[in-house]
Amino acid sequence: MIFKLLNRLILVLCVTSVLASFVPNALAAEKISRPYKFDKSGNLEQPKGYREWIFVGSPVTPNDMNSGKAAFPEFHHVYIPSDAYNVYKSTGAFPNGTILVKELLSVGDKQAPSGKGYFNGDFIGLEATIKDTKRFKDEPGNWAYFSFTTPIGQPHKKIAKAFGKNKCNFCHQAFAKDDWVFTQYYPVLRAAKPGRK
Ligand code: HEC
Repeated sequence: MIFKLLNRLILVLCVTSVLASFVPNALAAEKISRPYKFDKSGNLEQPKGYREWIFVGSPVTPNDMNSGKAAFPEFHHVYIPSDAYNVYKSTGAFPNGTILVKELLSVGDKQAPSGKGYFNGDFIGLEATIKDTKRFKDEPGNWAYFSFTTPIGQPHKKIAKAFGKNKCNFCHQAFAKDDWVFTQYYPVLRAAKPGRK
């Protein structure tokens, strides 16, 4: 009796592992954690913990090179969660559920012991983009865009509503190098993309 049960158990285990090995990589790759939340009305809650994700690049558009007021001032620190990064690294594609956070910082000093330049000042803004084929099925590329930025000196917004596609998405669609993401400015993602090393 016990042997029969054991045999059956071993058979079930074998069948399951054989089946598991047939699950396409792409499907398995979709299973990433989503370190963000939407409220009941579909607003994105302010992401937390992103400074511990993977830092992919730091474009800078200083006010003094943009007629005194850059459209997105000034340093842009961009982060991606390690799960989504790992999938990008192995498949070369951003999995469903990917979030990228862009934290804006002012330019602080312009002179340091290392020389003249632009040095990080204060945190002044927070934006995010999320790819979701279900929730944002009507957005081009399934990417939606959010901003938690408030006038300088005020705390960031706690929740943000997705912008209409004419406000943000259009520019990413037109100019971003890889699936709406400006990887041309993120050396860490360029280096991670398979076949591009
Ligand atoms: C005129 C073009 C343009 C518009 C409009 C635009 N962006 Fe971007 N965005 C960029 C560029 C270029 C980068 C990368 C370089 C940089 O940060 O300067 C970027 C990067 C980002 C990133 C980092 C991840 C990524 O996709 O590369 C986020 C998040 C982001 N933008 C959010 C927004 C939000 C929110 C809006 C609307 C309020 C918006 N963007 C509108 C040009 C644009």
